[in-house]
Formats: sequence, structure tokens, C-alpha cells
Amino acid sequence: MCGIVGYIGEKSALGILLDGLTNLEYRGYDSAGIAVNVEGKVELYKAEGKLQNLKDLTNEKREHILKSTIGIGHIRWATHGSPTAVNAHPHSCNCGRVAIVHNGIIENYKELRAKLEKQGCTFRSQTDTETVAHLVASKYAQTNNLTEAVRLATKEIEGAYALAVIHQDVKNTIVATRRNAPLLVGIGEGEYYVASDVPAIIKYTKRAMYLDDNQIVTLTSNSMKLIDSDNNELVPKIETLPWEPVALSKMGYKHFMLKEIHEQPDVVRNVLSGKLRASNENIVLNEVKLDKEALKTLNRIQIVACGTSLHAAMVGKYIIEDLCGIPVDVEPSSEYIYRKTVGDKNTLVIGVSQSGETADTITAVRQAKSRGSHVLIVTNRPDSTMAREADSLVPVSAGIEVSVAATKSYMAQVISFYLLAIHIAEIKESASRSELEKIKRELILLPQKLEKTLSHKDEVKTCAKKFANSKDFIFIARGINFPTALEGALKLKEISYINATGYTAGELKHGPIAMLDESMPVLSILMKGKVYDKILSNSEEAKARNARMIALTDSDDTKLDELFECIIRIPEVDEMLSPALAIVSLQLLAYYIAEFLGKDVDQPRNLAKSVTVE
Ligand code: AGP
Repeated sequence: MCGIVGYIGEKSALGILLDGLTNLEYRGYDSAGIAVNVEGKVELYKAEGKLQNLKDLTNEKREHILKSTIGIGHIRWATHGSPTAVNAHPHSCNCGRVAIVHNGIIENYKELRAKLEKQGCTFRSQTDTETVAHLVASKYAQTNNLTEAVRLATKEIEGAYALAVIHQDVKNTIVATRRNAPLLVGIGEGEYYVASDVPAIIKYTKRAMYLDDNQIVTLTSNSMKLIDSDNNELVPKIETLPWEPVALSKMGYKHFMLKEIHEQPDVVRNVLSGKLRASNENIVLNEVKLDKEALKTLNRIQIVACGTSLHAAMVGKYIIEDLCGIPVDVEPSSEYIYRKTVGDKNTLVIGVSQSGETADTITAVRQAKSRGSHVLIVTNRPDSTMAREADSLVPVSAGIEVSVAATKSYMAQVISFYLLAIHIAEIKESASRSELEKIKRELILLPQKLEKTLSHKDEVKTCAKKFANSKDFIFIARGINFPTALEGALKLKEISYINATGYTAGELKHGPIAMLDESMPVLSILMKGKVYDKILSNSEEAKARNARMIALTDSDDTKLDELFECIIRIPEVDEMLSPALAIVSLQLLAYYIAEFLGKDVDQPRNLAKSVTVE
């Protein structure tokens, strides 16, 4: 996903822009650029590949560029046009006086480009964004007003955009706007910042204003003016950002992913605090607006999500159906939005999203809301588009997650589903108090068990080393840990690029078992409970086909040593809670394998932290 940063004030813009882009690198990108206004002239600096290439480029003219106290910057995750310097943002018009950076997709860029070419515009890049640069320039030529030019230009655009624009003739001014892509304004003393996300500005200011769709903000070093798309002036809603800059430090860990894996015990404590005080007290979820009446008529739940969040949703299905007796369907958002879904005011639709900005999930929950369903969002970003549009909210409070691979946010989502399910069960009285109290006690004990699990990371590291050069990997589980197998496979896939697949163990003999031989590692998630023996026999079937067997288990049965080449042991845990414990070892396994292979763990190739385009 692209990242935008902008600065206007009294300081040199260069360092602030590059620093902001550095703190947005986690979003995933393949080129970068900045535009500054040096002594009255807009200058663009753009480079393919990693941000360091842009830093090297600007270093060549550092003293010159430092004269500019205004600028915009961008890291690009290519959607239209290959990741070259020409296609990197910022983009400009023919005369080079406009500079623009964009996150999103201009759906009607081909028609716009044809129209602009007829008017004599010459395009240099293959991007959709360049059309906006020419469009703004043409509107400015008509209005001689940059804000009005942006306002008129955006009326001709279809699609999603977050934009920041500067113009050579409009000194000391940045204009920014958004539609279906996040953008916020940081407010300093005699200076303003523009950013796609909090990490770009949190070290400079905690005062911010989030733009809503179709709002346009005009910034100078000492003023901020907000209007809507009909040119009505609006009162900016200033907020205090709840995060600390420390989230952007690796705190001595080699990668953000390893740091965030180790944060999970405290994340669970954080998620529980204020919601689960004691096992004999009811859960407190103040932002869930589902009362007894609403829950009485609630006859189905649909959960929509993508990627890791989809796996958390699948765990949620097991928990909610078990405790609440309400049928739950879980579906990838990208499938949900393209079929005729059935639902009404008696359907609760839950959107699960770490970023709260995933385009497919935003579309899915908006679709559900339009047909009258109550929309509840489970997200790590209560400041996000999804959260702001929700009827009910469960903020998972995992803290800013920088690594592209979701770990602590997955943990927080899963724990949030336990809390939500218990909350609904308490209201509906669909489970016994003793059963609910037992689960609440287990939840309270979970952080210590997570710490114990993390203390055995060297066993996981030893196992990782043995299998780091595998070309394929199979994870098998049953029941509530089937999503754990899928999530373990996704973690390994996305950071080591190994072809990993999660299967429900019962499906092995219906096809996948044909792939087994001595080159295939099979990891069995073998947690004590009602399916333990079944998975054990599935593991023996796999072993009989010469697969290399690994066990992840809370069993201390020594007989397992005969069957498994590696055994990763974790503390004993109630089967219902086992997904929250088992996943940590799989996160570590993926991390150590990727590290052994020398992969870019925090910014895997081709991936973005949040996919804000469909
Ligand atoms: C998870 O490790 C991936 N980074 C990815 O699958 C992610 O979970 C997915 O893109 C959904 O993102 P969201 O939770 O922000 O909606």
C-alpha cells in the first residue's frame, strides 16, 4: 500500500519527509519520491527500489534541498505501471509547476487521460496518478486557486484517493484530500504535517485531524482551512493520538516481527484490561451496542475479513457457535462483495481488520450496512475508516503493528472474539456461568502461558533450522485449531516464500497425502482435547508415507518421540483457548526459518501492511 507524507512550516522539509517515509516503509513499496519548493521552484526527486536509493539521490543536492520548508513525499506500491523512477510519485503536469502524491486507484484514469491528451497534455508515466496532476493543473489555470482546482478536479475522479498537492505559484501551501483512502493532518506549532498513517508523524506531534471522505484541507505554515466538496467551510475535529513513538522502535530486537511476537503477553493483558476484571464478573464491552432485545432477534452472524484477520474470524466462528448457539458464516471479504449475500436487520455482520482500511472489507461491511445489518468492527485501529463507520466496535488495542506479517494483532483479535462470545453468551444466557467462568479463568492465565511458550523459543529455532530449506510445508489440525494451521501456513508463506499449506487433518487422505514423501515436512497441531487421538492417527498415516513429522503439542506423552522428528512443546491449555497459545510457536517457526533464509522479514516482497485497493 502506498504511503503519503507532507510538511509545511519553518523547518527544512527534507529530513521530515524522509523520516516520515521511513516510518511508513512497513506498508510495503517498490519506489519512492519527494517534491520540494526550493527558492520558488518545485523540484522532484524520485528513485526505484528501497528508500535508501532516494536518500542517496537527495544527498547529492542536500544543501540545496534543505532550503525548502515545504514538501510532499511518497512510497509507492505499484498498481498501474511498473515500479520505475518514472512511475514513482510525485507526479507533475507538463509545465512542472504542480506536484502530487496519491494513494488509491483512479478507476476512470483512462478516460481522463484521453481527454487530457486531447487538450495537449503529454504523459510521461504509465500511472493513473499522473492524470490527476494534469487535471489539477488545468483546473488551476482556470481558477488560479489551488484549493478550488483540487476541489473541481476531484469531482471528475472516480475511485479511491488520498492526495497531497503543491503548486509552484502557490507558495507555502499544501492542499490535501481523500476518498476511500486514509489521510490525516498532524498539527504542530507553526507547522503542519500530512500523512497516510500515524507512524509518519507521531514523533513530531500527537495532535491530529483525520480527514473524512471528500473533505479538502488547505495548509500554510500558520493556517489550516477545511471545506467539503461543495466548498462549505467545516470546523476541524482535532484529536490526540493515543500512541507513543516507542512503537516505532525495534527495542533491540532484530526485526519488528520478533519484537511484536514477544509483545503478545502484554498485548493480551492490555486487551483484557478493563473488559475482563475477574472470572466471576461479566465482560465489559462498552462500544458493543447490542442489547438483550437486539440479541434476542439476532438469528445469524456473518464475519468478513482478509488474510490473517480471516483466520482470526474462523477461530471466532468456533467460539461464538460453541458459547452462543448462533450460526456463524465466515467469508473472505473479496468473495462476499461479489455475490448475492443474504442478510437483514437480524444479521450481525462483523468486519475484522487490523488496519481498518482494507478495501475489500470496507466494501463488504458498507454493503451489509446498506441492507440494514448491524455492523460490528474488530480492529486494531479505532481511528480507521471501518471503525468510524461501525455501529459497534471492539478495539483490540495491540498497539501499532509495524511488521507486515500480522502477529500481535492476530492474537488481540482472537482474544477479542473470546470476550465478544462470552459477552453475548452472558446476555443471551446461552452458556452456563460455570463454563464461562472457566474460560475467563483460562484467559486470565493466558499471558503467563504465553511467556512460558516464548521462553522455549530455542526449541523452535532448532526445529526451524532443520526445515529451513524445505520447498513445501504442510500444517494439519482439526476443530478450533484448523484456523491455526491456516495461519501458521500463511506466516511461513508470506515471510519465507516457502509453499506452505494448512489442511484440516481429516482431509489429508482425500488428496494431499499423495504429496507426502521424505522431502515433505508435516506439522501436526496436536493439542489435548477431543480430537487429539484423531490427529495422532492422521500423523501416523503421514509418517507411513515417509513425511518428516513435527508436533506442536501440550502433551508430555513420551511415545510421541517415536513418531515425530521434532516436538515443540507448549504449556497445557484448555482446548477452547489453544489457538491463542499454539499460534505463537508457529509465528516463531516462520520467523526463524525466514531469518535463516536471509529474507526481508518485516517487509516481504510484493506485500503491503494494508491492502487499501480492491
Ligand atoms: C497478515 O500477516 C498479512 N499481512 C495480511 O494477510 C493481512 O492480514 C490482510 O491483508 C488483512 O489486513 P487487515 O487485517 O488490515 O484487514
